[in-house]
Amino acid sequence: MSRFIVVSNRLPVTITQVEDQFRFEPSVGGLATALSSVVTNESALWLGWPGLPEEDFSGQKEEVKASLLELRCFPVCLSQEELETFYYGFSNRTLWPLFHYFLQYTIFDHRFWEGYRSVNEKYAEAILSIADEEAIIWIHDYQLLLLPGLLREVLPRATIGFFLHIPFPSYEVFRVLPWRREILEGLLGADLIGFHTFDYARHFLSSVRRLLGYEHELGLIVTGTRAVKVEVFPISIDYRKFSEAPADQEVRDRIEKIRKELGDRRIVLSVDRLDYTKGIPQRLLAFEAFLERYPEFREKVILILVGVPSRTEVEHYQELKSEVDELIGRINGRFGTLGWTPIWYLSRVLHFKELAALYYLADVAMVTPLRDGMNLIAKEYVATVPEEKGTLILSEMAGAAAELSEAILVNPFSLEDLVGALKEALSLPRDERLVRNRRMKERLRRYDIHRWAKEFVQALGEVKKTQENFVSF
Ligand code: G6P
Repeated sequence: MSRFIVVSNRLPVTITQVEDQFRFEPSVGGLATALSSVVTNESALWLGWPGLPEEDFSGQKEEVKASLLELRCFPVCLSQEELETFYYGFSNRTLWPLFHYFLQYTIFDHRFWEGYRSVNEKYAEAILSIADEEAIIWIHDYQLLLLPGLLREVLPRATIGFFLHIPFPSYEVFRVLPWRREILEGLLGADLIGFHTFDYARHFLSSVRRLLGYEHELGLIVTGTRAVKVEVFPISIDYRKFSEAPADQEVRDRIEKIRKELGDRRIVLSVDRLDYTKGIPQRLLAFEAFLERYPEFREKVILILVGVPSRTEVEHYQELKSEVDELIGRINGRFGTLGWTPIWYLSRVLHFKELAALYYLADVAMVTPLRDGMNLIAKEYVATVPEEKGTLILSEMAGAAAELSEAILVNPFSLEDLVGALKEALSLPRDERLVRNRRMKERLRRYDIHRWAKEFVQALGEVKKTQENFVSF
């Protein structure tokens, strides 16, 4: 039986197949990146999907399981069909667009819902095979919203925490979901529910009150039989890992190499998973308008755009990829000269050291999602860039904006805002950059990923005590 279990849809490692060999690569995305530096405790186990349909490794399932267990990862194997309805269906064609306010992309399909429910049940079974009432179970993100309730039915006294890594939308948006009550009831199986910002927590509390009729006071919801706490824990990064990266020799070599190629050109950096919530086309259009409006910057600035492929079986991701490819082609064709390509496009996963070199070199980071739960790229950039050098342009619609108020904040839907911010960022005096970055770095240094996890787990312990008083009363 395991004491501390972290559960997320994606494990921190993803299996990839090269010919007949299986390899384990670090997973892409904010959740896996942030949490992998937390689950280091010997007694902790991480349970989740290893990233490939089980049919792809069915002959070698036991070997794969054994290798994953050595990394303290317990795989939940999902078939192609389960992935269709649960992952590509309800998780990424229903919940993801809806919770990011993309109603026009949201599909309501009963088959997706059935698949979602049955995969959540599969997760519950897997947990029950390794956990008892003494376990502390920390569940993550929108793919597993029913799991707290399913576990609570079987383990009424277990300690269950839930953290949502994406926005919780306003009640007016959430209410359109046909399975809205089931989702809320599933979540209320947890003892503690964490969100990145006060707004997300407020939206959730208001949905619970209006749809289920449960009142709340100071974030405590009383359901009749149980008390559930709702709190805000803005996720952070492993600050030291990023701030110390530029001292690493391999990172230094990469910095030197890129510097040589670029000469004294200024760098604007953009790094995201290729997701329609990230506002990548809007960013490209803004860069184009900037070059048009301020010709003095032509040949002097380069945009490095990293777009990590993601959820490539979903049509809106495929359309986005074509749109981005086309825009880059058009802008490079329009403004490029023999010695200058305005946009460098990297459409692949970057390893930590490559990324750290880019963060270090970038004069400006443009982090302008249309909607984003937190956005850790913004934090990683601030932690890595020299304090006198970088300027962060950050979307108001990212959870990170609540903490990084010294950034140049923009409305990502406004072309004018984006172009103006680029001009301002590239013209900001050194002293101004220094003051802004120092403040942000200090904040990130103090509240890093370790503190985030510690505070959540501590709060979970405290809520459990309240729960016991409540039950005995
Ligand atoms: C976001 C979500 C995570 C997810 C990640 C990558 O950060 O909050 O739950 O793992 O994107 O997406 P993927 O669908 O590849 O797991």
